[in-house]
Amino acid sequence: MKTLCVAIVVLSLSSVCQPASLACEKLLKQEDKSPDLSGRWHFIALSANNCWIPLLVNALLCPSVAMDITAKDTPNFYDANIKVKIYGYSGNESTPIFYENNTLFDVDSDNRLTGESLLLLQTGCPDCLVMKIDNDNENDVKALTLFSRRKNVTADELKEFETQAECLGLTKPQMFKSDHGYETSKSLVNIDDDIPAMLIAIKKRLINIRDDLLKCDPEILSNPLITYLMN
Ligand SMILES: *[C@@H]1O[C@H](CO)[C@@H](O)[C@H](O)[C@H]1NC(C)=O
Ligand SMILES: *[C@@H]1O[C@H](CO)[C@@H](O)[C@H](O)[C@H]1NC(C)=O
Ligand SMILES: *[C@@H]1O[C@H](CO)[C@@H](O)[C@H](O)[C@H]1NC(C)=O
Repeated sequence: MKTLCVAIVVLSLSSVCQPASLACEKLLKQEDKSPDLSGRWHFIALSANNCWIPLLVNALLCPSVAMDITAKDTPNFYDANIKVKIYGYSGNESTPIFYENNTLFDVDSDNRLTGESLLLLQTGCPDCLVMKIDNDNENDVKALTLFSRRKNVTADELKEFETQAECLGLTKPQMFKSDHGYETSKSLVNIDDDIPAMLIAIKKRLINIRDDLLKCDPEILSNPLITYLMN
């Protein structure tokens, strides 16, 4: 059966191979219930249409990222405080968001939509948000993000996310770190003293992912910054 399906794909009658496309259709359905957005969400994994984005996350030591969402007085308006922790340092930034039609919309300080949005997809994970970043502009980044109330998800939940990303033609997911002690870490503002040590750590990481970097961009080693960091 599998061989037959492969043969049919090769003959480019891929629509005959219903199972795969049906599975994707189901996996890429929009979320139909409105989740309670308020509270802490841990950023578990990221997949993108561009191999650079996951590699950059990896090269930058896979930071820990979380989002604290609080409802504002006006219905459907929220504040998202995004926290990032990298190399023991953390920083945060707040952004207002508007939620409607299973979509998180970025809004400006006057509550006007900026045009950027995140569409919630259905997921078998009971406490996760799977969001698709989509832009009308062909050149912009397309990505799929997995957030959870938990600091990590099960292997099956991760597999489902990976399949969703595959269905969209995106990269294999890059995991973030699950060490979220933002309150107890040093402020990113004071990172200067530790930059040399951090560069050494990034260098090690780049050397480890050298093959992936080359696969992503065969010209990578002609980039002076990358060459400097990798030598
Ligand atoms: C956000 O970062 C600022 C420093 O830039 C810090 O004073 C504040 O406590 C942080 N807020 C949260 C909610 O982590
Ligand atoms: C949500 O969907 C309704 C009905 O299709 C539409 O009128 C409305 O403009 C949508 N909201 C946003 C913010 O796109
Ligand atoms: C999270 O869970 C996945 C799948 O179970 C596992 O492969 C990964 O190592 C875990 N990550 C952390 C940081 O615990």
